[in-house]
Amino acid sequence: MSKFLEIALVAAMFATPAAAEAIKLGRPALPEEVAAWDIDVAPRDVGLPEGSGDVTTGEELFVEKCAYCHGDFGEGVDRWPVLAGGQGSLTEPRPVKTIGSYWPYLSTVWDYVHRAMPFPEPQSLSVDETYAITAYLLYVNDIVDEDFVLSKENFASIKLPNEDNFYDDDRDTVEVPRFSVEPCMENCKEKAEIVMRAAVLDVTPEDAAARKAREEAAARAAEGAETGTAAAETATAAAPAESAEGEAAQGAIDPELAARGEKVFKKCKACHQVGEGAKNKTGPHLDGVVGRKAAAVEDFKYSSAMRAAAEDGLVWDAEALHAFLKKPKAFIKGTKMGFSGLKKDSDIDAVIEYLRQFGG
Ligand code: HEC
Ligand code: HEC
Repeated sequence: MSKFLEIALVAAMFATPAAAEAIKLGRPALPEEVAAWDIDVAPRDVGLPEGSGDVTTGEELFVEKCAYCHGDFGEGVDRWPVLAGGQGSLTEPRPVKTIGSYWPYLSTVWDYVHRAMPFPEPQSLSVDETYAITAYLLYVNDIVDEDFVLSKENFASIKLPNEDNFYDDDRDTVEVPRFSVEPCMENCKEKAEIVMRAAVLDVTPEDAAARKAREEAAARAAEGAETGTAAAETATAAAPAESAEGEAAQGAIDPELAARGEKVFKKCKACHQVGEGAKNKTGPHLDGVVGRKAAAVEDFKYSSAMRAAAEDGLVWDAEALHAFLKKPKAFIKGTKMGFSGLKKDSDIDAVIEYLRQFGG
């Protein structure tokens, strides 16, 4: 360990001169020693040393010390970093991030080159050499002309093209207040509302034919709702003959969706039967349940909560089913359906589509 390093380390261990004095070990670092370590040049050009350098000198130095890795014009050799170009590429799938296209502050270029380059021999460049090379890097990035001289005096006048896309760290004023308030843990949303269904939003891919059928059916249903029963009846008549009542107004079955629904229905099978000869088990049979009044299976003993909901006019249309299957106990407080609900909206849509196939 060099003598110099030893002194500096001891000085660093005793942050205050008083502490060093009390232990009688080491001595405070001299200003010169601190200055030798204190080489950082920060944005807003804090800490720049006196000096200057021109593009031409910078080019000579660069060709000698840097070009075998970074290319004569900063274009990069093999896979060494590219130092020039790439302007306008930041929004492309493969942005080229260079001093000219990406870096916000010239002081970082100066500091980095002075501190860390050339890669095999860091901190070997003098202050003036660093000014000159920095001037050359500005030149190859089309920011200055070839007769430019960079110095401590004109340094602040150079603005890198991408500076405006950076902003000052504002987390203290923006994020901290937001994250330090008491978090809401209960009834945080004033009113929960289903604004759109996954199938309508089109997040679930489906084949073109199925979509067309669905859209046509939706249009017919809308027409029916607008112009009254007559149109609704027409809609029923226009639908495939084998479809059950009520179902027609909601459109043709999407076979792919229904097939997925059959898989989801495995979660229901322990308690529900559906299809020919379906019987009540723990839960009522579900034949014809889509579009039917709630609690309508004659010989099933529903909970009083379910019967009350039925008396209030609950009908198992797609929307009601969706809400019920999402969270049964939230939709009908006191239901005896011992099932916690289906998490995924797409599973719910699928199982409803599956159930629609079974008429009453
Ligand atoms: C032996 C190859 C080599 C030489 C010679 C070399 N560099 Fe580098 N340079 C690198 C490597 C490797 C990196 C990336 C280092 C890292 O990411 O830690 C780099 C990074 C840089 C960067 C930052 C690039 C970026 O966008 O992140 C600059 C600026 C730079 N070098 C300038 C110079 C200059 C000026 C010289 C000559 C004084 C020089 N380099 C000499 C290999 C080299
Ligand atoms: C652990 C048994 C159980 C499971 C699992 C279960 N259910 Fe139920 N389900 C019931 C019971 C019991 C009722 C009657 C609830 C009541 O009366 O409050 C019911 C009622 C229903 C009703 C209302 C029927 C009507 O006639 O009003 C529908 C619709 C329904 N379940 C669908 C499903 C679907 C779809 C699944 C699977 C995703 C499922 N259930 C899973 C037990 C279950």
